[in-house]
Amino acid sequence: MKIRAAITGVGGFVPDYILSNRELETMVETTDEWIKTRTGISERRILKGEGMGMSHMAVKAIDNLKNKTGLKSEEIELIICATTTPDYVFPASANLIGAEIGAVNAFGFDVQAACSGFLYALITGSQFIESGKYKKILVVGGDKMSSIINYKDRNTCIIFGDGCGVVLLEPDMNGNGIMDSILRSDGNGSKYLFMKAGGSRYPASTESVGKEEHYVFQEGKTVFKFAVQNMADTAYEIMQRNNLSGEHIQWLVPHQANKRIIDATADRMGISQEKIMLNVNRYGNTTNGTLPLCLWDYESKLRKNDNLIFATFGGGFTWGACFLKWGYDGSRK
Ligand code: UT7
Repeated sequence: MKIRAAITGVGGFVPDYILSNRELETMVETTDEWIKTRTGISERRILKGEGMGMSHMAVKAIDNLKNKTGLKSEEIELIICATTTPDYVFPASANLIGAEIGAVNAFGFDVQAACSGFLYALITGSQFIESGKYKKILVVGGDKMSSIINYKDRNTCIIFGDGCGVVLLEPDMNGNGIMDSILRSDGNGSKYLFMKAGGSRYPASTESVGKEEHYVFQEGKTVFKFAVQNMADTAYEIMQRNNLSGEHIQWLVPHQANKRIIDATADRMGISQEKIMLNVNRYGNTTNGTLPLCLWDYESKLRKNDNLIFATFGGGFTWGACFLKWGYDGSRK
């Protein structure tokens, strides 16, 4: 039987500090009511503390996964870290994480595909498993979005939050695991959602800092339109080519950017509300963290052989969908 890559454990971490809509009302011209009706978000988490990057949250999430599964750091062969807010431009956060957890037998690298990064990393990891050469891979997805958000810009600061999740990928020969995926990108969308300075085109300078160019820029309305269209299209496409209709699917695992985008995707797929994994209300948009944090929150409800559809959209533009058969009952703990 074909070797498939199955998720065999999940871990997560969100920082303690809660940034509520009420607190945002004191920072920018907005209201709790506007944010809730336009996005579905009530609060998000913020990582506070000097010198702590996204790898800090990743290490905590991996500790959580290790406690639940009994995984030992020496057993890990590969760490793929999906992030848009790495600790440094280089080296990769995957390397910092590996050193911190003592993954002495692992190599690692980062994946940058904005909000779709975790799905890209998951599918990348699955190729190493399906090749038969690797047996234990960590796929991390997380972001410290607060490090690149302008808390004077109401178009962006109400949406994003900090958080990180991780999954363990192992080979499965019993028909569970990743069954199919679609990954897409179109760089023509880059101008609608990006951070101008700090890369090789516009390196950091006193001028770039003065012009506040080290923050996320988003043309929300345009991104919204593309997100609704593309997330729904690929989710629908993956259902069609696997002969799935709404009733065959137990869970939709959607990128958590805006509840209205999630609802539009679910409608198109014929998926009812109770089958949607949802935590955007509590965490906001954690970019690479959204999909693994959904799994972390809903793990106890998942059952062996459940059909899951992942759907995502983000800066790039990048988007995609994945069909996965879940491999175990309930929470590992
Ligand atoms: O994860 C990566 C992908 N990102 C996304 O998927 C995000 C996609 N975009 C969105 O989720 C939404 O576009 C936003 C939540 C960012 C904005 O919601 P919207 O319904 O598209 O609002 P809008 O930008 O069309 O603005 C509508 C009105 C405007 O006022 P006028 O021009 O109608 O008078 C804005 O100035 O709402 C105003 N507005 C706000 N009002 C209160 C914009 N932001 C706010 C705010 N509070 N925070």
